[in-house]
Amino acid sequence: MIINGVNMQPGAAEYPRNHWYVAAFSTEVTREPMHRALFGEHIVFYRTEEGDPVALFDRCPHRGMRLSNGGKLFGNMIQCHYHGIRFNESGRACLIPSGGTPTSALSVRSYPLKEIGGWIWIWAGEASQVDESLIPDHSDLGLTAPGFHAYFGLVLEANSNYLFSLENLVDATHISFLHHGLIDDGNVAAHPYICQQDGVRISMIREFKNETIAPMVARAMGLKSARADRTLELISYAPNTCVVRQHFVETGDASQNRRDSKLVFGITPTGPRSCIQFVAMANDYENTHPDIFDELRHLLMEDVVALDDIQNLFDQLGQDRAPEVAVRSDEGAIRTRRLIAAQVADERNLAVAAQ
Ligand code: FES
Ligand SMILES: [Fe+2]
Repeated sequence: MIINGVNMQPGAAEYPRNHWYVAAFSTEVTREPMHRALFGEHIVFYRTEEGDPVALFDRCPHRGMRLSNGGKLFGNMIQCHYHGIRFNESGRACLIPSGGTPTSALSVRSYPLKEIGGWIWIWAGEASQVDESLIPDHSDLGLTAPGFHAYFGLVLEANSNYLFSLENLVDATHISFLHHGLIDDGNVAAHPYICQQDGVRISMIREFKNETIAPMVARAMGLKSARADRTLELISYAPNTCVVRQHFVETGDASQNRRDSKLVFGITPTGPRSCIQFVAMANDYENTHPDIFDELRHLLMEDVVALDDIQNLFDQLGQDRAPEVAVRSDEGAIRTRRLIAAQVADERNLAVAAQ
């Protein structure tokens, strides 16, 4: 599917570069250099002595060693393990042990970062275009909302184009089949929905009355009764963030126990046909389930395995022989797709205007 000249066919979908993407959980970035490939680029992450996260292109310009491969920190500088050249947090070479003056040719790219509510966001595009207003509102995500508890649990790698993961998360209808019985009583797929849009925020909402709650959900939410009224809201923020929000009011319980839970996903392309799902949780109650993320991993891997298989077949057939036919319930996914296509097209128009 080509929209505004942008290839938005899941399997080969493009994404905007001038945007923020989740690069890591805060807890992953320490004084020990860490390698991660994002957007087809190798990046090394570490923290300064002051605790600020740093992201540099992970290749020493001298002889091409990965800075993360044995690199050590000296103050705020990282020292290449091969011949010991040191780079500061801006990527500028500051010291050549074998002699000579560092030149700008020895610098490595540094990536703008923003650390908010337990996530580290990275700007994938031109540093001159950085726009912090493009980061989703973390209070709306639940991660910094008053009264909410945030938990950071999973880094799931998928061998499929990022759009599969993103659209999968606004598609509730697969719950009744791919996850048969794990999340619902089989009635989500046929249940009516409403679709709302506010800027880049698309929301698919389904309301259930006196629904039988699946055991795994009851455990995860700490629900006491087997039935509840549930609001299931799947939200996407183009181009890369999703929230699965579940709001429960238990029935048959005099206390009318209420629970509001948000599973928050940052979807970051690692290449044209691969991505990482960063999964966090924000609840208006304290999680008491010790294995919540183990259960979630099992559930979410059902999606990853299915999406990787779809990608595999797409790659074998090629885009022309692997068309998609959308149905009505794909509304949230298609609207999200159009928003992302507009973001990519805008970026291209800017680049053309700047030439
Ligand atoms: S390759 Fe890094 S200092 Fe030589
Ligand atoms: Fe799923």
